Amino acid sequence: MNVDTMTDTARLTFEDKEVELPVVRGSEGEVGLDISKLRAQTGLVTLDRGFKNTGSTTSGITFLNGEEGILHYRGYSIEDLAENATFMEVAYLLVYGDLPDAERLEWFTKSISKHTLVHENMRRFFDAFPMGAHPMGMLSSMASSLSTFYPDSQNPNRSVEDIDMTIHRLIAKLPTLAAQCYKHNMGHPTCYPANDLSYTENFLYMMFGLPTEDYEIDPVIDDAINKLLILHADHEQNCSTSTVRIVGSSQANLYSSISAGISALWGPLHGGANQAVIEMLEQIKADGGDLQKWIDKAKDKTDSFRLMGFGHRVYKNFDPRARIIKKSADEVLAKLGINDPVLDIAKQLEAVALEDEYFVQRGLYPNVDFYSGIIYRALGIPTEMFTVMFALGRLPGWIAQWKEMTENGEPIGRPRQIYTGHTERPVQPLDQR
Ligand code: SDX
Repeated sequence: MNVDTMTDTARLTFEDKEVELPVVRGSEGEVGLDISKLRAQTGLVTLDRGFKNTGSTTSGITFLNGEEGILHYRGYSIEDLAENATFMEVAYLLVYGDLPDAERLEWFTKSISKHTLVHENMRRFFDAFPMGAHPMGMLSSMASSLSTFYPDSQNPNRSVEDIDMTIHRLIAKLPTLAAQCYKHNMGHPTCYPANDLSYTENFLYMMFGLPTEDYEIDPVIDDAINKLLILHADHEQNCSTSTVRIVGSSQANLYSSISAGISALWGPLHGGANQAVIEMLEQIKADGGDLQKWIDKAKDKTDSFRLMGFGHRVYKNFDPRARIIKKSADEVLAKLGINDPVLDIAKQLEAVALEDEYFVQRGLYPNVDFYSGIIYRALGIPTEMFTVMFALGRLPGWIAQWKEMTENGEPIGRPRQIYTGHTERPVQPLDQR
């Protein structure tokens, strides 16, 4: 196949067939071949397990460059946003396309603060979950249940105002539901939202506050949560975002699409890795801290063990988020006066791995999940809530991607396959099978 830069097409020849494939060029220089007419013109489909080389859409939300470790939300670098914006500003940026001015930010935050409560019937759902229920299982159930309390959200032909209302309800209520997951497993009484607090302060209050005493919000913790949510807010067409898009492409409502995204994020190869990293580091510590033993296990193809928090489908260089979170981990633990031996193990493990040819050759570097759990732990958040924190951060990104897909009128997602099973055969009578 060669790309004819003059007419911006690529020519594919196969057997006696020849087809011109349009070339799509993105604003940051990415180049793709549009194969939407390939099957009609040649009878061929492409095969790409895990969609490692396949673009599912065009999008103006997030740009990342895996080779150079670049991540931008709507053109703003993640480093700039993490230092100079709040999570509410970044959520608005992702959903509406630009940073808000003071008036729009007030409209957005006031609207959200009005919708932080959930129906009391929903709060009672938690009574039915077993103690110790994994918070991601509870959260995905609750997210989809919201659609039953707001049936108007199920209408695919809603007005822009109605879609805005659904978006604001979801951004407002997910932290309330997330905090209730924690309260359920602690056996603690509910702390209702305090709408005079900021978004992140309110979440901390609902998680750790108790009706019997004042809860003082530590600005160090609030700042760390704000930064972590920003760093997790979007990441183009990752597994859970692609799930949200494909569920939403059937015109399923936003609540159910986000519920599906929460379920996809739960997996240890995806957002569940932040929980798996801490469990791995604690396992290494309990095993005597022999780092090389575990590095060798990760390299051993006969061993299912992988170095959790290492490697990435796109970043074959340092995950820019990991760099910021690693620096923040040092700062937060120092400010809180915490000396966590697991952080030391993480740093030593990283150093040994990055000297090892196996990891360097495959471009396996620490990703966003490698250090985030260490900060969550320092903030007093239990391990099983780590992926819930990831979901709270990713929520505006999922919403923005669902909104873009809906506004662009994207078709229902329905990939093809190559069938490799039995060719047609007759049903044999029972006594002859
Ligand atoms: C997230 O996509 C996103 O954007 C995701 C995310 C987001 O913000 O949405 O960034 C969040 O999910 C981060 C990733 C969190 N997951 C983990 O930390 C789990 C551990 N990492 C891996 O399982 C793995 O690296 C993946 C799943 C992240 C990426 O897998 P790929 O792209 O399918 O790579 P691969 O499995 O084809 O691996 C390539 C090679 C293989 O070896 P060879 O066959 O070439 O000999 O690298 C090896 C793999 O065995 N490898 C690892 C490894 N990761 C890859 N070997 C040991 N330990 C690892 N962690």
